[in-house]
Amino acid sequence: MYEKLIDEAMEAKENAYAPYSKFRVGAALLDKNYKVYRGCNVENVSYGATCCAERVAIFKAISQGERGFLAIAVVSDSQEMTFPCGICRQVMLEFKIPKVIVGNGNGEYKEFTIEDLIPHGFDKISGV
Ligand code: THU
Repeated sequence: MYEKLIDEAMEAKENAYAPYSKFRVGAALLDKNYKVYRGCNVENVSYGATCCAERVAIFKAISQGERGFLAIAVVSDSQEMTFPCGICRQVMLEFKIPKVIVGNGNGEYKEFTIEDLIPHGFDKISGV
C-alpha cells in the first residue's frame, strides 16, 4: 500500500548531503491531497547543525502552508529498518502525522502509528 511513498523516499535519498556520516536518508511526506513532499538529510561540518530527512520534508510542507497529513516514509541504504530519531518523532507528533512507514534499503517496510513511536508524547502545555 505504501510502495509508492517508499519509492519517493528512495529517490529523495539520492540528494542526501551526508559527507560526514555517509549515512544517506530519504523521507517522503504524504499530505491530505496526496501531494508528496520529499526530504533528505543535510549535514554540516558543525554536526549539530545537521537536519534529518524527515524534518526537511515536514518543514518544506509546513512552510508551503500545508497542515494536514496522512503518512511519512523514511529509508536509508541500510539493510535494517531506519527508525526516526527522537526529535523527528516529536515534530511528527506536533503536526499529527498519523502513520510512519519505516523502510530499509531493499524497499521492504513496516507501518507504525505515531503513538507506537512516541507513546505518552508531550503534545500540549497543560496548566498554563
Ligand atoms: N538521520 C536522519 O536523516 N533521520 C533520522 O531519523 C536519523 C538520522 C540522519 C542524520 C545524520 O545526517 C545521519 O542520519 C546520521 O545520524
